[in-house]
Amino acid sequence: MTWLITGGAGYIGSHVVKEMAGERLVVLDDLSTGRAERLPEGVPLVVGSVLDRELLDRVLVEHSVTGVVHIAGKKQVAESVERPLYYYRENVDGLRTLLEASAASGVGRFLFSSSAAVYGMPDVERVTEETPCRPLSPYGETKLAGERLVTAVGRAHGMATASLRYFNVAGAASAELGDDGVFNLVPMVFERLTADDRPRIFGDGYPTPDGTCVRDYVHVEDVASAHVAAAHRLAVDPAAELVLNIGRGEGASVAEMVDIILDITGRTGLPPVIEAPRPGDPARVVAAVEAIGRELGWSARYGTRTMVESAWAGWLLRNTRVLG
Ligand SMILES: NC(=O)c1ccc[n+]([C@@H]2O[C@H](COP(=O)([O-])OP(=O)(O)OC[C@H]3O[C@@H](n4cnc5c(N)ncnc54)[C@H](O)[C@@H]3O)[C@@H](O)[C@H]2O)c1
Repeated sequence: MTWLITGGAGYIGSHVVKEMAGERLVVLDDLSTGRAERLPEGVPLVVGSVLDRELLDRVLVEHSVTGVVHIAGKKQVAESVERPLYYYRENVDGLRTLLEASAASGVGRFLFSSSAAVYGMPDVERVTEETPCRPLSPYGETKLAGERLVTAVGRAHGMATASLRYFNVAGAASAELGDDGVFNLVPMVFERLTADDRPRIFGDGYPTPDGTCVRDYVHVEDVASAHVAAAHRLAVDPAAELVLNIGRGEGASVAEMVDIILDITGRTGLPPVIEAPRPGDPARVVAAVEAIGRELGWSARYGTRTMVESAWAGWLLRNTRVLG
């Protein structure tokens, strides 16, 4: 099989490329947020957008692609509220164009990067794949629409499909592959600490044990290994139609994560400040992971300390480069 990996030069995509290095691969990425240096030698990179149908047709034929892992996408919730048309174009039209090209060229396997954002504000201890999806942002809506499109096209065109709902991804396999963005908790706290500012916690009055929001943080290497497991399953099961959570099945509160970060970075002299809660932040979003265990035999291996340690190594490397 040859796999096309879209968004392979991005944070999660480059980890998936690394983990799938034993397969024949080609990466398509427009480098809007990705970096070509993240790719290992020998993996061909085509620079372009998933919205470019002509380019897709050429790449799928030239590389004899038989499976697609679609990771490319825009992922900032707040930006999606301000620019819904852009998010629908990039995430939904981009996916539709890629599915059209894939169906036309006879691609038989399709994996899609979805998100826990499809659930919105779930009122349950642990979110199962059957928990109703009520996304709160255009970003979450594009992921839910994407999942439905993937499943429908898979049925109509005989493609095995999997939509993987990532929870809160953190960490790095190596310093070079770290997350460049500062939109998730761990890099947001690093940014504050690097500027000698106290980290901010938005709200401590939630109905959780310490009053701060609880999330399911999952190491990006674990997320990558889940893709390998899903790709293997799709390769042997042409009728697969999977929708699966990718998390640890364990929650960590924002205050707990900030404590770990202060400890690992040695910045205990900068305790967090509590600020007003942000509108639309659910109190608790933790994955139920029985389905992925049952379907793929997969479970997460790494804990929160490993995530923070590896993310900090990457942060230091990038900031030394900027300063140097
Ligand atoms: N990071 C998380 O915690 C998280 C959680 C849930 C879901 N996701 C999803 O995982 C995917 C990857 O996220 P990430 O954190 O690696 O983000 P990222 O921004 O690092 O990676 C996205 C990659 O896609 C590329 N890209 C964007 N638009 C493109 C287009 N139109 N055509 C071709 N390439 C394009 C970018 O250049 C980049 O390399 C996204 O779809 C995101 O919605 C991420």
